[in-house]
Amino acid sequence: MVKELSSAGRFTFIGSSLNVNRMGYGAMQLAGRDGNKLVWGPPRDVDEAIAVLREAIASGVNHIDTSDFYGPHVTNQIIRKALFPYPEDLVIVTKVSSRRGEDGSWIPALSREELTGAVHDNLRNLGLDVLDVVNLRSMFNVHQPAEGSIEAPLTVLAELQQKGLIRHIGLSNVTPAQIAEARRIVPIVCVQNQYNLVHRADDALIDDLAGDGIAYVPFFPLGGFTPLQSGTLSEVAARLDATSMQVALAWLLHRSANILVIPGTSTRKHLRENLKAATLEIPAGELAELDAVSRQDADASTDRHEHRS
Ligand SMILES: NC(=O)c1ccc[n+]([C@@H]2O[C@H](COP(=O)([O-])OP(=O)(O)OC[C@H]3O[C@@H](n4cnc5c(N)ncnc54)[C@H](OP(=O)(O)O)[C@@H]3O)[C@@H](O)[C@H]2O)c1
Repeated sequence: MVKELSSAGRFTFIGSSLNVNRMGYGAMQLAGRDGNKLVWGPPRDVDEAIAVLREAIASGVNHIDTSDFYGPHVTNQIIRKALFPYPEDLVIVTKVSSRRGEDGSWIPALSREELTGAVHDNLRNLGLDVLDVVNLRSMFNVHQPAEGSIEAPLTVLAELQQKGLIRHIGLSNVTPAQIAEARRIVPIVCVQNQYNLVHRADDALIDDLAGDGIAYVPFFPLGGFTPLQSGTLSEVAARLDATSMQVALAWLLHRSANILVIPGTSTRKHLRENLKAATLEIPAGELAELDAVSRQDADASTDRHEHRS
């Protein structure tokens, strides 16, 4: 499997020695759920969560995405329990920006004290002296990028980097203007926004970042809490003797060489299925069909809008 995974290719974070397989793993799904509180508390099956992480590493994954606000704290503690002492080449990318309300909400936590506390929480719960990459998640709108200056919180992270607590800095949930603002303050190695086969608002941004050697790490690559559904995706998957999720991941890997995928799962069954996407070839005809999916969706939504108005 290690050899299979390398078919997806590798990527070096700009200005660093951090070299990862483009097929990674997102750890958010390892936390539990309590009614409407998502990503909350311990998982239903802690042993399975640990097994997922160990199998990911054994299969060649060396890029794990996490945050201390998953759980909160739970996901990082499971990562430490499963993998510490960490393999030499493992890159753990975390993010800061929020604290969790008792009702499970995600509350912006971007003051100097809160950001410093979050970095120390990540260090303690992961058992590290320095964090490889910390993403600053913009919170002007919790659900999607929205304009506003990120200078103040980013300056705090840059200072923590100067103190040696952070190696590299990335951004999440950001607009192109915020990325430009950030790059005037500190080098940015990656951007993590929502993007997948049917949610393609960042198409131009991905190409711009590729030109500058900056990684683009789509979150919700499989659609997130509601897995992707598309007739074209199902048809193409059936034709290629693959699953829809495998095709969705292979399409992302094909989309641009600066895309690193971090599909999330709480089961080894889905992990195995997802990692096999690294070897899935998509012929040109099928790629063109998949490329058109978001256009069909946009057209359908325009049609619906016109029918209503
Ligand atoms: N920066 C941000 O704001 C942000 C936001 C969200 C997520 N993230 C990061 O991005 C990572 C990926 O996002 P995500 O985990 O939320 O969403 P995702 O990878 O798009 O999808 C995960 C969901 O798909 C299911 N799934 C996974 N593999 C499957 C398969 N082969 N067949 C059917 N269902 C499958 C999972 O359920 P099972 O557990 O049952 O497999 C889970 O419900 C996260 O883990 C997190 O690290 C970042």
